[in-house]
Amino acid sequence: MDKIIIQGGRRLKGEISISGSKNAALPLLFATILTEGTSTLHHIPELKDVLTSLKLLSKLGLHHKKIQTHTYQVQCNNMRSYTATYDLVKTMRASVLVLGPLLARVRKAKVSLPGGCAIGARPINLHLKAFEKMGAKIDIQGGYVVASTKKLHGELIRFDTVTVTGTENVMMAATLAQGETVIENAAREPEVIDLAQALIAMGARIEGMGTKTIHIQGVDQLHACQYSIIPDRIEMGTFLMGVAITHGDITITNAKSSMLVALIEKLKEVGVSFEENERGLRAIGPKILKTADITTAPFPGFATDFQAQFMACMTVAKGTSVITETIFENRFMHVSELARMGAKIRVEGHRAIIEGIPRLSGAPLMASDLRASAALVLAGLNAEGITEIHRVYHIDRGYEHIERKFRKLGAKIKRVKVKY
Ligand code: EPU
Repeated sequence: MDKIIIQGGRRLKGEISISGSKNAALPLLFATILTEGTSTLHHIPELKDVLTSLKLLSKLGLHHKKIQTHTYQVQCNNMRSYTATYDLVKTMRASVLVLGPLLARVRKAKVSLPGGCAIGARPINLHLKAFEKMGAKIDIQGGYVVASTKKLHGELIRFDTVTVTGTENVMMAATLAQGETVIENAAREPEVIDLAQALIAMGARIEGMGTKTIHIQGVDQLHACQYSIIPDRIEMGTFLMGVAITHGDITITNAKSSMLVALIEKLKEVGVSFEENERGLRAIGPKILKTADITTAPFPGFATDFQAQFMACMTVAKGTSVITETIFENRFMHVSELARMGAKIRVEGHRAIIEGIPRLSGAPLMASDLRASAALVLAGLNAEGITEIHRVYHIDRGYEHIERKFRKLGAKIKRVKVKY
């Protein structure tokens, strides 16, 4: 197991380019189940979750080949299995995204129920309810969702709660269903739009992605495609918050600021200035951070995946801020670790009240989930002295070579192997 060691106190400075989006890559890989032939997928990040998805596809009978860094060919001809086993699903909840493609393509699926995780219970009841409405028979047996259908048919699916993977799962299933499916209260995240664009490149008929209502006309079959996915907006935002917490000055060369409107607005409020120039998006941190309150919300609101990193910034802002988490019920695991660095945070239900201090102090820390780990890295970059972050496998699930990228920007950060 690895740990990350940071000597804090360096300003981030320089240029960086962002990897492909994890949360766009995973559904796209699973969408290949719907196709016949060999798809070529570009800008796929080198991440643990991508490897887990490829392993799952192999078990189902799909073949893949890495043809160059960040480009994979995935061939789907004969499916060998329709089961996603517990050992894979427990390491990556996004594995439930095989359910829709399998039901649509082979009309049966056996997928382990993911169970709770570090940030909340995260049920998949809304996915299952939608598939039942579209003509699937669903049972829970031995911890597995066992689903089958003669053929899915189009339906009106109105989600009670906005769900990103729920929208993606239903959208994928609907591409090969009989007739029209309408998804209401659909997720509008850029990753949902990207998946819809990829499905269209495969021959699907989809309209309305990026709005609250998506229309999908079922077609008889989908074909392989070439597709290049969007940059990772969460990685992008994490670097921007790195600028805030280190008073840095960086330029993101492939930034898409339209995906980050809510975050950029808040970063401006706390004193970060932005400039779009011929090199990309430049962000300059202030000497002293101001405070801002945030409430997480589905896109285009302030993303829950930025909440932990923003909290790290607020621990060293001048004044008091309030962070309200509305998406996941247990996404404050980073609070106790930040407190070990001297942060003053009080949690009241789903609100955290943060009283800024001048600077954090380095400490040994434990990563609890992906975005919380990123927050600890940012905190370590600010802190006086040495910060050691253990269990960094969480971070490797979603950030490509994070320590290399921060090092390129001047941070003193390294990864070392530890024997426990
Ligand atoms: N929910 C239900 N029932 C369902 C589905 C969702 O009650 O059937 C609830 C959830 O418990 C949660 C809310 O609805 O309270 C929203 O959850 P959503 O389904 O949107 O989350 P998700 O699709 O499981 C994706 C991302 C997460 C990101 C959330 C919110 C992927 C692979 N994962 O999860 O990303 O936090 O949307 O934006 O796209 C991450 O990358 O670190 C990560 C956790």
